[in-house]
Amino acid sequence: MRLSVIGCGYVGLVTGACLAEAGHEVMCTDIDAERIAKLNAGGVPIYEEHLDEVLATARKNGRISYTTDTAEAIQFGDAIFICVGTPPREDGSADLSAIDHVAQQIAAEAKSPKLVVEKSTVPARTGLELQRTLAAYSKGSSITFSVASNPEFLREGTAVYDFFHPDRIVVGVDSDAAAEMMREIYKPILERKFKCQVHKNGCPTEPKVEFLVTTINSAELIKHASNSFLALKISYANVIADLCEKLEGDVEQVTHAMGLDPRIGTQFLKAGLGFGGFCFPKDIQAFIQLSSTVGVDFEILKAAERVNKERIDRFMEKVSKALWVVKGKRVGVLGLAFKANTDDIRFSPAIYVIRRLLEEGAEVHATDPEALGHAQKILPNVHFHEDPYEALRDTHAALVCTEWAAFKNLDWERAGKSMARKLIVDGRNLYSPKRMAELGFEYHSFGRS
Ligand code: UGA
Repeated sequence: MRLSVIGCGYVGLVTGACLAEAGHEVMCTDIDAERIAKLNAGGVPIYEEHLDEVLATARKNGRISYTTDTAEAIQFGDAIFICVGTPPREDGSADLSAIDHVAQQIAAEAKSPKLVVEKSTVPARTGLELQRTLAAYSKGSSITFSVASNPEFLREGTAVYDFFHPDRIVVGVDSDAAAEMMREIYKPILERKFKCQVHKNGCPTEPKVEFLVTTINSAELIKHASNSFLALKISYANVIADLCEKLEGDVEQVTHAMGLDPRIGTQFLKAGLGFGGFCFPKDIQAFIQLSSTVGVDFEILKAAERVNKERIDRFMEKVSKALWVVKGKRVGVLGLAFKANTDDIRFSPAIYVIRRLLEEGAEVHATDPEALGHAQKILPNVHFHEDPYEALRDTHAALVCTEWAAFKNLDWERAGKSMARKLIVDGRNLYSPKRMAELGFEYHSFGRS
């Protein structure tokens, strides 16, 4: 099929690349001319595992093209995936102006019937507004538009893998024809009949992917409800960690045992500095805001958000208690990205920690395997190092903020020798307290004695 993708950020680029890999012809567009130029030159503007291989294959097969001409992209596809940003506004609600703008352009430029697919995360009832906007701006033309909501459940860092191996594909539609078209688009992934770059010898056929056809409103709600529930789980684990500290329990033991109950599940119960990134914090705010506009008080979600914000306070309390005086101390920060395997620092707990350290007068030396470039742009008063051992040299404390494997496997015997003081405050519970004690470190983490 011929498909258009509007917006070449994380969601748009992964969607476009993977749909091309699945056999479709894809045209991507973005208002950022530099980004399009880079893509046209064979570059990849974001770091995402396997994305470079998938884009290179699509390019070689002539299945993907890029343009800054939005009208050209709109006219190209039978279905148009809207993947533009929906950033938070001052009050936490989602800014939908980019979606509105694209909808007006589609209405004005389309020359044949289109299925308009909402891929960006949006509040419930956006699809209905999209339908109204498409009708209102097509100025009586005979071209018909259908709308679908197709939320993405991709995790940054494993987005390509997730695209090819979804637990479920959700399509909220306004007609049977739209549902059929969406099924056709996802057929190669539902049948797992192609060799993707992740599994070069063919993807495992099990488990079967659920293809769920819902109303548009339900599909939109499914996305927000899923992310919010995962955030709730993380905050719950973090409160259990606080309790463990007070009552001399071990949060790892408690959450592990809890998770073995299949009704609870082991994932997303990792205590620490809490969640960050461009999805959870903004989606939760938008969901709380949306709920309040319809008179539903989402108290538990507000609590999860508050608990998460307070993780930085809890961490800084540990740092202050251990260091006694923070002012003037040289500290090494391991990790800048909001989680491992990404270069994304948006709403990263590590960045909040660094800002607090700077406010308190510490000299900050930071390192990260992928996120140095982004962090350098927003933190001018920090000393950055590619080598973690250099970042830790002469420091009075090592603060672990991101769970990179490179930090997990660090040679602490070596690092400890060059530190001014053998102190670690671990915001991600990466190490065994016993092992760290054996190595002669004063070691603090979350929810473990
Ligand atoms: C999240 C969801 O997992 C995806 O399904 C969804 O598609 C995406 O948001 C989105 O809405 O686009 P992502 O933001 O990439 O994906 O990150 P996650 O892997 O979910 O992690 C979120 C944050 O929670 C990270 O800061 C991570 O360190 C933290 N986390 C995660 C914990 O603190 N504890 C845990 O147990 C798990």
